[in-house]
Amino acid sequence: MILILSASLHPDSRSRILANLAKSKLEESSEEAVLFDLSLKPLPLCDGMTAYADPNVKELASFVKQADAVLIASPVYNYDVNAAAKNAIELTGRSWTGKLVGFMLAAGGPGSYMSAMGVANSLMLDFRCLIIPRFIYALGDAFEGNELTSEDINQRLDDLIRELTLLKSALKKIS
Ligand SMILES: Cc1cc2nc3c(=O)[nH]c(=O)nc-3n(C[C@H](O)[C@H](O)[C@H](O)COP(=O)(O)O)c2cc1C
Repeated sequence: MILILSASLHPDSRSRILANLAKSKLEESSEEAVLFDLSLKPLPLCDGMTAYADPNVKELASFVKQADAVLIASPVYNYDVNAAAKNAIELTGRSWTGKLVGFMLAAGGPGSYMSAMGVANSLMLDFRCLIIPRFIYALGDAFEGNELTSEDINQRLDDLIRELTLLKSALKKIS
């Protein structure tokens, strides 16, 4: 199963459009995909203690644990993923161990394209995640209303899904 974690809390989020599209594309290629949308399943702030007992936290941790791969769809906030994405990772910590992880970012400008690197490094170093080296980075002009209109980003999304499924089966063979 592939988990798609949609981290934006904005009602008209663009990264959520990418998350939904990734889900459809995965299902078209016969992959089971689960979308966990933080705007619909709010999580408490991680306090390192009582927050782990929250039912949404438990549900997310269980999805992360079961997943062969996780696609993180996030807004770029302050040259990073948003705090909701970081918080979700803090709350589910060790469930990420060894996961294949991909990134789909929506941003306001072209200069923040390395914004996933902080969280990518932490996932690699903390939990030995394998980061798919093909990030989606989409600006506002890639969308019209509720739709992705950029052919280039759509192609990149297809490439990400293809590489994810290839890596997933390669990892299954050697594990
Ligand atoms: C608090 C805040 C910080 C932001 N920081 C950045 C930034 O560092 N770089 C950037 O390119 N865009 C930045 N943006 C713009 C968002 O990335 C952009 O609006 C994006 O579409 C948000 O994703 P979403 O539509 O999925 O919510 C910021 C927006 C907000 C509200």
